[in-house]
Amino acid sequence: EKGGWPSFMDKEIHEDPEAVANTLLGRFDAKGDIVLDEVRIEPEVLRSIDRIVVVACGTASYAGLVARYAIEHWVRIPVEVELAHEFRYRDPILTPRTLVVAISQSGETMDTLMAIRHAREQGSRVLAICNTQGASIPRESDAVLYTHAGPEIAVASTKAFVAQIVAAYLLGLYFAQIKGTMFRDEIHHIVQQLRSMPEKIQWVLDTQADTVNRTATHMVNARSFLFLGRHVGYPVALEGALKLKEIAYTFTEGFAAGELKHGPIALVDAGEPVVVIVPSSRGRSTLHNKVVSGIEEVKARGAYTIVVAEEGDPDAERYADAVFWRPVCSTLLSPLVDVVPLQLFAMDMAMLKGYDVDKPRNLAKSVTVE
Ligand code: M6R
Repeated sequence: EKGGWPSFMDKEIHEDPEAVANTLLGRFDAKGDIVLDEVRIEPEVLRSIDRIVVVACGTASYAGLVARYAIEHWVRIPVEVELAHEFRYRDPILTPRTLVVAISQSGETMDTLMAIRHAREQGSRVLAICNTQGASIPRESDAVLYTHAGPEIAVASTKAFVAQIVAAYLLGLYFAQIKGTMFRDEIHHIVQQLRSMPEKIQWVLDTQADTVNRTATHMVNARSFLFLGRHVGYPVALEGALKLKEIAYTFTEGFAAGELKHGPIALVDAGEPVVVIVPSSRGRSTLHNKVVSGIEEVKARGAYTIVVAEEGDPDAERYADAVFWRPVCSTLLSPLVDVVPLQLFAMDMAMLKGYDVDKPRNLAKSVTVE
């Protein structure tokens, strides 16, 4: 079943490119416009939506956080992302014009299921982004957009995460198309870029795995890791931290790079590993400069810096002890490639420590109790 791979996790990480490609498949008409046939909510109703609330847990919630940056930018409506278990118990404000988007790989997560039941009772429409055909969450939703990542067996979610981002992006672009918040050409241009992502992810798998493995070997005894990122790099940092904690049992914390001086920098001591997601250096954007100054600050305090950066970024070379390169791509699409070395890194760390990467202790693949 593992098809020659040492673990399901290894196999599934190597299926990231396919998960992205398959989730895009069959979602366009001959003119290149987006057609989401499964989203059986009338266009007039979709046009009236004035707020999106994403409910999800764990990795799926980080896919929601990534999508928030893109959807708000493209559709100009507020997107909130809430952990399903928190949402359910705080009497959230929901109206018929709110679209609740439940993201779940298994479609059986009880916390997320309870959240959508609550949303529907309040009169909101629910759309599920799900990887499992016919599971409870899509069954109880008004509409569903399936991710086509294929069955995910390893407890640590990998290929489902990239597929969830793609599905949520398709939903955002579809909204932009029907609400007319973007030009057709702009949408087509982003779709073109999305189509090139499988190749870019493959490049990371083919060229960066050795560096990742060497870095994991070097850091195997580290007791804790900090992960930081800004903008879409922030949820990627949270996801990288979760992966390492889940399967390598290493204490990690992921946080927004801008928070560094508001507290977390106190943790940085000589030798402390800090993983930083660096935005594109093209045009030397403010975003890039701000994150680089964060690296400088932790470096000055003796941190061991592991950086995910765009090919050829001179600042990455200057301040990083190890670099995982990303091929050039637009900022909003960068999470699809940036998460890949972090998935590999967590897996390598767990393997080096002799742990079962597919079945980490204390965890179930789908959490069917509240
Ligand atoms: O099946 P779901 O996507 O609803 O699961 C949500 C979380 O339980 C899941 O993503 C969990 O955080 C994973 N173990 C992460 O690797």
